[in-house]
Amino acid sequence: MERLFGRSRPALGLDIGSHSVKLVELEKTGDQYELKRWVVHPLRDEAAEEKALARSREAILAALKDIYSTHGIQNRRVVTAVSGESVIVRIITIPFIPNQDEQMLQLSIQTEARDFIPFDMADVAFDFQLLGISERSGEQGQVQEVLIVAVKKDLVDSHVHLLREAQLEPCIVDVGAFALVNAYAECSNQISGESAALVNIGAEITSIAIVKDNATRFTRDLAIAGRNLTNALMSYLGKTREEAERIKAETGLGSRKGESESLSLTIEGNQYAQPDIVSDVTKALEGLGLGDEPVMGATDSGPADQGRVAEVCEQILGDITSEVKRSLLFYENQLDGEPIGRIILSGGTAMLPNLCPFFEETLGVKTEIIRPLDKINHQLSSEEVDNLSPLLGVAIGLALRSATR
Ligand SMILES: Nc1ncnc2c1ncn2[C@@H]1O[C@H](COP(=O)(O)OP(=O)(O)OP(=O)(O)O)[C@@H](O)[C@H]1O
Ligand SMILES: [Mg+2]
Repeated sequence: MERLFGRSRPALGLDIGSHSVKLVELEKTGDQYELKRWVVHPLRDEAAEEKALARSREAILAALKDIYSTHGIQNRRVVTAVSGESVIVRIITIPFIPNQDEQMLQLSIQTEARDFIPFDMADVAFDFQLLGISERSGEQGQVQEVLIVAVKKDLVDSHVHLLREAQLEPCIVDVGAFALVNAYAECSNQISGESAALVNIGAEITSIAIVKDNATRFTRDLAIAGRNLTNALMSYLGKTREEAERIKAETGLGSRKGESESLSLTIEGNQYAQPDIVSDVTKALEGLGLGDEPVMGATDSGPADQGRVAEVCEQILGDITSEVKRSLLFYENQLDGEPIGRIILSGGTAMLPNLCPFFEETLGVKTEIIRPLDKINHQLSSEEVDNLSPLLGVAIGLALRSATR
């Protein structure tokens, strides 16, 4: 029937994270979207043990197979995304030349872009989008702003290869941060002219994107996120991974009663894949304690324990907010010269109790959790909406790419 009426089947939005795989199917009727299907499928524990970014292909293949068979999904066309250090997104400026032809424009952009791309141009897939024209003081006169994107080809190739191995048909490979911006721009209540920082805190990656009037102005990925919280809680409280996950979700940054007892903490190895981008967490965490031995085998979760949980969470999140602050300052001072009006949190870690107030206190910016389902018709309860909204942002943004085509 679809063929008869020339309607191509929309693709599914597929967000492969290090903690779970999210899949979203949207249907567009007129200018209304409807959520036809959503899946959040956890990856097996073996994947959780993998080093940062080295996601277990086997675990992902097994998850995709499970998702398709359990939910009886027929549509194998997917829109997916890549993220991480091999993805470079920048705004550059080139001299504005009226009536510039396409070839000259391309050449000018590629030449300028080289300075910002730390890879051989032959190794990257390159794309750009023209933004506004602005006045620059001095000799430069009018300049054309251009958003450039460069992604290492081997990252895209390995992603596409993995999907094909799972018998899927990848039709668009996007950048994770752009997908989130897309979901925010299309489905949330934006304030015109406001610069908002989207901060997606997943399991291994925290991705920062600054958006203004539907345009991405800045992106950056950090290799520190929810798993660092879990690992620190495991070391600190001597809990298993499952217990630490539970304590994290129940207590998070919850209110602390009184001074916490003396404690010490040993974090094994370097938890972060990019030690240069974060402060030394081991040192920071050691600063919490007085003794030399790790606290092992604590069993209750009374007020003292809760205080400790909150303190560990605060230390790790302090590292994240410092990096977010650096990005906000870079944007405010070097890019647009405008303050950030709002921070929009997403990702599973956004559900950490009291995270919004923590961001507001630390960064002095109004903070809320993304609501990508606000403008999508669905049959979910309000509780389901609250639980799914932080998780589905990227997958919704991806599904929108195909539903709007
Ligand atoms: N209620 C909660 N409180 C705190 N953390 C939570 C909660 N629920 C989930 N998390 C954490 O969220 C993380 C998973 O988030 P998410 O699904 O966004 O990650 P991912 O997309 O799979 O990973 P990534 O994008 O980093 O590769 C895990 O670290 C998990 O422990
Ligand atoms: Mg993610």
